[in-house]
This record gives sequence, structure tokens and C-alpha cells, in this order.
Amino acid sequence: MTLTTGHRVVVQHFAASPLEAIDGCMTLEEMPAPAEETLLAGDVVVAVRSASVGWVDLLMTSGLYQHSAKPPYCPGLECAGVVAWVGSEAAQRCAVGDAVLIDPFLAGPRSLGAYQASGGFATYAVAPVDAVLPLPATLSFDEACNLLGNYETAFHCLMTRGRLAAGETVLVHGASGATGVAAVQIARLRGATVIATGRSDEKLAQVKAQGAHHVINTSRTDGTRGLRAFRDEVKALTQGRGVDVVYDGVGGDISLESLRCVRFGARYLVVGWAATPFVAAGKGSGPALNPNLLPTNLILMKGLDVLGCPTVIATVNDPALRAPRLAQILHWAAEGLIRPCVSHTFPLTEFKAAMRAKWRGDVVGGCVVHP
Ligand SMILES: NC(=O)c1ccc[n+]([C@@H]2O[C@H](COP(=O)([O-])OP(=O)(O)OC[C@H]3O[C@@H](n4cnc5c(N)ncnc54)[C@H](OP(=O)(O)O)[C@@H]3O)[C@@H](O)[C@H]2O)c1
Repeated sequence: MTLTTGHRVVVQHFAASPLEAIDGCMTLEEMPAPAEETLLAGDVVVAVRSASVGWVDLLMTSGLYQHSAKPPYCPGLECAGVVAWVGSEAAQRCAVGDAVLIDPFLAGPRSLGAYQASGGFATYAVAPVDAVLPLPATLSFDEACNLLGNYETAFHCLMTRGRLAAGETVLVHGASGATGVAAVQIARLRGATVIATGRSDEKLAQVKAQGAHHVINTSRTDGTRGLRAFRDEVKALTQGRGVDVVYDGVGGDISLESLRCVRFGARYLVVGWAATPFVAAGKGSGPALNPNLLPTNLILMKGLDVLGCPTVIATVNDPALRAPRLAQILHWAAEGLIRPCVSHTFPLTEFKAAMRAKWRGDVVGGCVVHP
């Protein structure tokens, strides 16, 4: 395949917030074809077909995420496409024309090594051959670029940390999100009963179609913004007992209400804080000034296990977690037992509209750009 000039998005410097970054710090530029003399023998060049627009991609542009690539960098944690060039050593393991996805642990902005600046919002992504995985035959490019980060997160939280068992009930907050839909699917596959929450009836209908047994709209009914109490509904759905596990990707007020929805000895999984992204000051300036807080009286009296679930950090600390998790997810995908949901797609030229749609919460599951 001849490599030609293309395009890529570049984050020039950190902004105070993702919206400020979209407006003022990100540009679509011409991308020269990767020059062979700059590539290594173990490198692979992938012509990107689909790149996911994730919440973490947004946070990273303002340094609000705990790990950021150093600007200038090309965003796009996860992408899938077609192999366009292979180095001499990589040629034993893949060939030009292969449909592949790139492992975000090993290449792209969330990776820790030399391939950080090469994200998926580009005509080409460069990755070491170890990071290049065959596209599961069951998945489209759009679905494949929403597989690893989301399902590995849900797996790590629910299975590794949460020890979710068949017959248990799990309350999933942020269930319409990219990791949320993955959590709904994996919990259902595990044989658990899934109660999913969200703020929109339309999105919750889609979450139900993705496998949730019950859905609860947590918006206030009087039209004012904010959360309403929902503990009675959860108690009613669990015969007064409370849930066994909470998967909390939202944080803020919903966490406190959730502590009133659990049985004694429940596991509370701290996954993320989509409702309170401004934990730090932005521009990558450091410490968490506005942390979420949980009351120790409820944690004590209910005998709760409160479990922090940072997937990548846990895996860096214990690399043995990765291989079985990855194998299980690729197996489930190949068997058609899990399938990422993608509600929105945009051409790469409209990356700003794509990022705004994700930030506003228009999306159910994944949002994708097409270079
Ligand atoms: N622990 C880990 O390893 C890990 C890995 C990846 C991501 N995360 C974190 O997990 C969280 C969810 O990630 P994601 O990729 O699923 O995000 P996402 O796709 O943007 O979904 C977040 C969901 O949260 C819900 N939400 C409720 N209140 C919200 C508010 N005030 N503002 C925005 N959203 C709100 C939204 O659902 P409704 O509109 O339906 O209410 C939205 O769909 C993020 O904080 C992310 O940083 C953690």
C-alpha cells in the first residue's frame, strides 16, 4: 500500500477544560506520510478507519486526567484500521491489508512508552507489532475501537475487584457511557441482575436493549437540575435487601445516595467521576483540589468494601492481570457474547463536533471519528 499525505488532529497545549481545548488548542493538520527511514523494523503503520472519542480523550486535553501525553500529541486512545506498512521484523506477524486494532496499553496517548504521541485521530497510526491485534471477525472497525479500554475496565472493576457472582444484583451508574454499556453487558453475561441508572429515558431505553434488567431515571421530576432520591426503587427491586455491588462511574451526589441502596457487606466500586470532572485545576496543573468524599459512618455501619478500580494503574502494578483479561474479552467478542454499542459517528474533519457530542452526553456507548 502506498503511503500518501493525510491528516491528523494535534493537541497543541493543555487547556483549562476540555471545551476550551476543543475551541482553542486543537487543530486538524496535514500529516505527511510516515517516512520509512524514521520507522523501526518492529513497527507497523495502520491506516486508521475508526477511532473512538472517549471521555478520557476529552479529559486528557486539559491535563484533568491522571496521565497525559505531552503536547503536542495526536489524541485518540483507541483505533482500528488496515495495515499499510510493516517493518522487516513485524512482517512475520502481520501483513499489509490485515484488519487490526491497536492495543491502547502499548501505543497511543494512554501508553507509557515511545508511541504516546501517535493517536488514532489521524490518517495513520504507528505502533509496535506487539500492539497490533487482529480485528475480531465479529466486529466492525467502529465497534473494535471501542472494545479494549471499555471492556477491560468493566472486567477489571466487576470481576477482578468486584468479584461479581452469578445471582447477585449490581447497580450500574453511568450505564449509557462507553464503560457503562460494557459493564451492563459483562454483568449480564456473568449471570447478575443489572439495575442501570441514567438521566434520560431515551438513553435508558437503549441501555435496556443492551441488557439491563431494570432502569432508573435519576433526574428530578420537577424539571430542576440534579439528582433525586432513588433508594426506595432499588430496595423495591431487591425485595428490600439492597444491591450486592455498585459500579459507580459517575461520582458526586449519586455516590452518597448509592450508599443507601446497598446490602450489609456490599462491594462499592469507585470507577470514575463523570459528574465531577473538575477535580484538578486544569492545564495539567496538578493536585486534586475538589476530591469526591464518601461518609465513613455509612461505610462502617454497612460493613462496605469500598474498592478503587483504576484499570491501567492496577495493571502497571500487577502486569499478570492483563493476559487473562484480554484473552477473555477477545474470546467473548469472537463468540458474539459482547459487542460495543456505537451511537454516533463523524468524519475526522468534524472531530470538534464529535468531542462536543461526547462532552454533552449525547452518546450511548461509543462515539467514533473516521479519518
Ligand atoms: N476505573 C477505570 O479504570 C476507568 C477507565 C475508563 C474510564 N473511567 C472513568 O469512568 C467514568 C465513565 O467513563 P465513560 O468512558 O463510560 O464515560 P462516558 O462514556 O462519558 O459516560 C459517562 C456517563 O455518565 C453519566 N453521567 C451522569 N451524570 C453525569 C454528569 N453530570 N456529567 C456527565 N455524565 C454524567 C452519563 O449518562 P447519562 O447521561 O445517561 O446520565 C454518561 O453516559 C469517567 O469518569 C472515566 O474517567 C475509569
